[in-house]
Amino acid sequence: MKYSLPKCLLAALLTLALGCSTTKQTTIANTKDSQLPVDRRVDSVLSLMTLEEKVGQMNQYNGFWEVTGPVPKDGAAAIKYEHLKKGWVGSMLNVKGVKDVKALQKIAVEETRLHIPLIFGFDVIHGYKTISPVPLAEAASWDMEAIEKSAQIAAAEAAASGLNWTFAPMVDVSRDARWGRVMEGAGEDPYLNSRIAVARVKGFQGDLGIFNVAACVKHFAGYSFAEAGRDYNTVDISDNTLHNIVLPPFKAASNAGALTFMNSFNELEGIPATGNAYLQRDILKRDWNFKGFVVSDWGSMGEMVSHGYTKDLKEAAEKAANAGSDMDMESHGYVEHLAALVREGKVSEENINDAVRRILHVKFELGLFDNPYKYCDDTREQQTVGKKEFHDGVLDVAKKSIVLLKNERNLLPLKKTGQKIAVIGALANDKTSPLGSWRIAADDGTAVSVLEGLSQYKGNTVTYAKGADVAVGATLFGSETRINTTDKSGFAEAIAAAKKADVVIMVLGEHGLQTGEGRSRTKIDLPGVQQELLEAVYKANQNVILVLQNGRPLAIPWAAENIPAIVEGWHLGTQSGNAIAQVLYGDYNPSGKLPMSFPRSVGQVPLYYNHKSTGRPGGDTPTESVFWSHYGDEANSALYPFGHGLSYSKFEYSNLKLSDTSFGKSGKITVSIDVKNSSTVDGKEVVQLYVQDLFASVTRPVKELKAFELADIKAGQSKTISFTIDPKTIEFYTANKKWEAETGDFKVYVGGSSVTKLEASFNYTN
Ligand code: BGC
Repeated sequence: MKYSLPKCLLAALLTLALGCSTTKQTTIANTKDSQLPVDRRVDSVLSLMTLEEKVGQMNQYNGFWEVTGPVPKDGAAAIKYEHLKKGWVGSMLNVKGVKDVKALQKIAVEETRLHIPLIFGFDVIHGYKTISPVPLAEAASWDMEAIEKSAQIAAAEAAASGLNWTFAPMVDVSRDARWGRVMEGAGEDPYLNSRIAVARVKGFQGDLGIFNVAACVKHFAGYSFAEAGRDYNTVDISDNTLHNIVLPPFKAASNAGALTFMNSFNELEGIPATGNAYLQRDILKRDWNFKGFVVSDWGSMGEMVSHGYTKDLKEAAEKAANAGSDMDMESHGYVEHLAALVREGKVSEENINDAVRRILHVKFELGLFDNPYKYCDDTREQQTVGKKEFHDGVLDVAKKSIVLLKNERNLLPLKKTGQKIAVIGALANDKTSPLGSWRIAADDGTAVSVLEGLSQYKGNTVTYAKGADVAVGATLFGSETRINTTDKSGFAEAIAAAKKADVVIMVLGEHGLQTGEGRSRTKIDLPGVQQELLEAVYKANQNVILVLQNGRPLAIPWAAENIPAIVEGWHLGTQSGNAIAQVLYGDYNPSGKLPMSFPRSVGQVPLYYNHKSTGRPGGDTPTESVFWSHYGDEANSALYPFGHGLSYSKFEYSNLKLSDTSFGKSGKITVSIDVKNSSTVDGKEVVQLYVQDLFASVTRPVKELKAFELADIKAGQSKTISFTIDPKTIEFYTANKKWEAETGDFKVYVGGSSVTKLEASFNYTN
């Protein structure tokens, strides 16, 4: 039976209203009148709610029992179930699939007094069942269309499975490769992060139709600056870094219409983000005029006690509510204490009303009041999840995410016939690891392995030897198995295979679950004995192509120096092996560029191209004196810098021109450059523009990405690429504590990476 909420809601509300005034009847009618502005409908619902029901909307529970099985009789599940029936739950997370979602939604809309639908959230980070590359990998595509498409695919599958809210995108600017969650974001640059945040929000939310879900921009804010890259650790950053580096992607996502935000586990200026009014009330809701709601991170309200900020959960609930944290994810602080806090006068009812309005507003926007089963169509679920076109879509973005780090002696692309190829490394034969971290709805073993991808090409002979295992750090749901693999018994077989081969493909790196939440590492080289394996095989045959699979930058100085060809193959998702094979064989010409610097050594991190100059700057060249900012045992620069990535084409940059060398408040200049593809293959190049503000009221980075274009350039042809620079381009958070452009001298750099050769100067005057 297809259930129609409007009728049910009306019937129930009419019962409630029996004998009441015309005003009340009008109120009830308003809740269901889809012609009325959402705000009026929201207010109508709000006016019917008790304090407990309001608080209930602010409560989110994790999935708590086999929902279509017997009803829980006791324990925590029974309490949650009772709360659900009373209308004390506004949202569920980690319940998925039409059958289960429908079962819970039925309780909310048929058994509670006001029949307010639930919103169902899930971590659809880079795909639901059909998995795209991990977000860091996708960022390497610098292709906004492809990234938006990938988010659309994720949304379509999730929405068809009953979900209406994803906890993505993560827009934390990440500078520390030790932090396991770098895989979940778009890397170290605020501008690239902002552009990608917008693409992902648009992809997920679309026009909020049946194949879209609400986005949740996270983690607000500063989470990626955890000291020493250790997840959940203390964060201590300046207001300057907060505004200039951390916040821009959040603001871009808010401007793009993101419906929700998630706060974060960390503290900022000694105040945990969940209880931080500066972030949530002042910046997000007041300054940015954000109309959606903020959900806490998992248990982060309760964690304010461990932080030493509140003495108990009740005080945590008070601080969180007063700071503008609208929904409590699994701390139970609101459901247990908020109504009492209102009665005691510690939290105003106006605060509660504001939070509930925001939550109801999102539910209206999603169409849940008009049809709470909008996302619950079994046939649609069956017909949508795993569709062929989604596999084609994730393959497309996977190819675009691959970065060619090095290619000497023309080892790549591979010849298609007559070659003996040895494939070595446990990851080459792995159908689970390439799915990466954060892919909780996908089934193990559903990725195309590199070996399977290569087997599509029949002209060569392929032999496989594992060589060694990858040390695995953790399982999907977080239980740790600290395996320090020392087993080298497979080396001999790998060396023998390499000796007989014309070319060796080594697939090495991190297991998909060695990155992600709670997966920080102090070593960021090849785990286990893989480095030794690489060196041993290279000794036997120097024609080695190293294919990396990893979710964070790795420190691989030996490989960078010795191995002739290196392909960054990340954790590319379901179609991983096909994407890698097509790039290795030259059927796809790589165009990816690194979204994060690869260090020479873990001792350099946090390492990022947009660093400050310091009072004692210097390059990598040693001098006689030690008194400049450097290391005695390592260069300052990255092994592979931000923006780096090669192609099978060769691009030459020339003729950097500025339309003017100076502009004022209402002016602008055009920067143009000629890019020539001097090779015989068509290719794509990400042309990058960086600006340096030479002197300012606060010190500025040595360069900052301000624009880029993914240019398609045919073999032998040239393209002139133009960018505009105006006052907006050079704005930053100044000593006046506001975003503005300051007059002065600037440099502009254009090239194919952050280490650019061509530069020019301009001046901004008032
Ligand atoms: C993570 C969030 C995630 C939430 C729900 C937390 O541990 O930090 O990013 O959305 O769990 O799964």
